[in-house]
This record gives sequence, C-alpha cells and structure tokens, in this order.
Amino acid sequence: MVEEFWQKRLQSVENQLKNELLANPSLEGRLAEAMEYSLMAGGKRIRPMLLMAAADAVGGDGDKFLTSACAIEMIHTYSLIHDDLPAMDNDDYRRGKLTNHKVYGDGMAILAGDALLTLAFEVLLRQEGVSDAVKLSVVREFSVAAGQSGMVGGQALDLESEGKRIDLKTLQKLHMGKTGALFRAAIRSGAILAGADSEQLAALTSYADKFGLAFQITDDILDVTGDEAVIGKPVGSDERNDKSTYVTLTSLDKARELAQKTVDEAVASLSPLGDKASFLRELVESLLKRKK
Ligand code: IPE
Ligand code: IPE
Ligand code: MG
Ligand code: MG
Ligand code: MG
Repeated sequence: MVEEFWQKRLQSVENQLKNELLANPSLEGRLAEAMEYSLMAGGKRIRPMLLMAAADAVGGDGDKFLTSACAIEMIHTYSLIHDDLPAMDNDDYRRGKLTNHKVYGDGMAILAGDALLTLAFEVLLRQEGVSDAVKLSVVREFSVAAGQSGMVGGQALDLESEGKRIDLKTLQKLHMGKTGALFRAAIRSGAILAGADSEQLAALTSYADKFGLAFQITDDILDVTGDEAVIGKPVGSDERNDKSTYVTLTSLDKARELAQKTVDEAVASLSPLGDKASFLRELVESLLKRKK
C-alpha cells in the first residue's frame, strides 16, 4: 500500500517536472537540453516526496503542492550538477548517466545549474491555492536553505576541509549545511504550505534536521560500501578527494550506529503528529536499508 502510494506520487513528480520545464516558452537550445538532461535523469526525488509528506502530516493534502515539490528538486539538481564539476568533486557519473559537464562541457554545466536554481523560484511562484504571504514564507525557506547559510555554505566548508582532519562537530555542521538545509526547506515548506501550527512546525523541523544528518551519514557509508551500478554515481569519490566523512572520522560500524541513533531521534520527533506522520516515519527508517 505504501509502495503503491509512493509510486503514484513519484510518477506525478516526474510528470510535473517535465510540465514545469515545458511551461517556460523560452526554454530551448543547448542550455535547455542540459537542464533537462540532469533534471529528468531520474533520482530518488526524496525532497519532493518529503515536502508532500510533511503537508499530509499536518492534516493537509500533499498532492496540492506538487509545483513547490518540483521547485525544490530543481534546486537539488542544480546542486548536484555543480557538485560533480572538476573544480568540486570531479565525478563522471550521476544518476546512472555521464555527469552534466561530461556531456555539455564545464561552462554549460555551470549555466544549467544556475538556470535550474533560478527556475526553481519562478516555478515556486506558480504554486496555486495559497496566499502570497505563504508563498513568500516558502521563498524565504528555499533561499535561506540554498545559500550561504545553507547548502552553498556547507559545500564551501566541504571544499575547505579537503585534505584536512576536521572534528566531528565541524563535520556535522558541514553535513547540516550541504545536505540538511534542503531537507529542512522541503519539509518545513510542505508544512507551511499546508498551514501547520507552530507545534507541528517545530516537530517537523526537528525531524528534518535528523533526517538530513542520517541521510548524509548513509551517503558517506554508501560512498564506501555501495554498488556503483545501483547508486548511479562513483564509489570512492570521498576517498579520492581526501574528504572528511563520518566513515573516515569514525569507522563504518560507528557511522552505522550513529545513523541508527539519528533515525531513532527523527522518529521520536514525530510523536506530536500521531498517525498522520506514519509515512515520514517509514521514510526515515528506510534510510538504514538504503542501497542507493
Ligand atoms: C545526493 O542526493 C546528494 C546528497 C545530498 C548526498 P540524493 O541521494 O538524493 O540524489 P538523487 O536525487 O537521488 O540523485
Ligand atoms: C554533496 O554531497 C551534497 C550536495 C550536492 C549539496 P556529496 O558530494 O557527498 O554528494 P554525492 O555523494 O556526490 O551525491
Ligand atoms: Mg561533494
Ligand atoms: Mg559529490
Ligand atoms: Mg557523497
């Protein structure tokens, strides 16, 4: 039943992403091709799913916020295109395909990322059924999360930490930025769009922070233990770039333990929301079984 629900929503996200791209009449040429190449390359679509699930968890209907869900996926895809560039992680595969710069060249990949980031805000403003004040709150969530105090800030810390031994506290800050911030924005935005009260929003914010951390810990584990054919991106990228990760700073076993503990904390954060949050509970628990 949950699987069926997931697949149905996943299909709606895929369709809507395509529609939102096509809704932009000036979208043509090689730049448009590069944007579509990465955006429509698959991907687990976890952030859109979380945005919609958070809306459900506060008594709303996540399906109404598909447009905003697509907007966060555009920001995420841009972050991946830039993350893979030679000047960043220098990776050749993403989502089971050659990385954007491998196909379109570095310059066009940078621009495709820039354009997806900007398009995300245009798309967000197409969200129907909510007031302008609510939309503004979501614009704020997205912009804070994407920028210097969120994802980009975390990526900068990640770059600066290459080849250095950092402590766990710094690593956690780095993870909360580069990965946690977009999860936080996805989940809080879903809640805000659905009219969450302050208690619900606080519970979901705490869940989001734990989710983001657990997600990046398991990403670090998969960078060591994953199967390239399944994860669709290179294994061993972190080691090659001399990155500090939960695995290098602790051990595989300790990283797994910490992932478990973080997932338990995420589940505990959901208690004020009751049964409506059962999908979010299953989602975070599924991180421990991640193969991709
Ligand atoms: C990968 O994110 C980048 C990180 C934040 C670790 P995902 O694992 O969600 O990648 P896709 O969207 O499924 O490709
Ligand atoms: C990058 O983390 C997260 C962002 C793209 C913001 P990683 O560099 O670990 O992500 P992967 O492993 O390449 O997906
Ligand atoms: Mg990286
Ligand atoms: Mg990377
Ligand atoms: Mg990684």
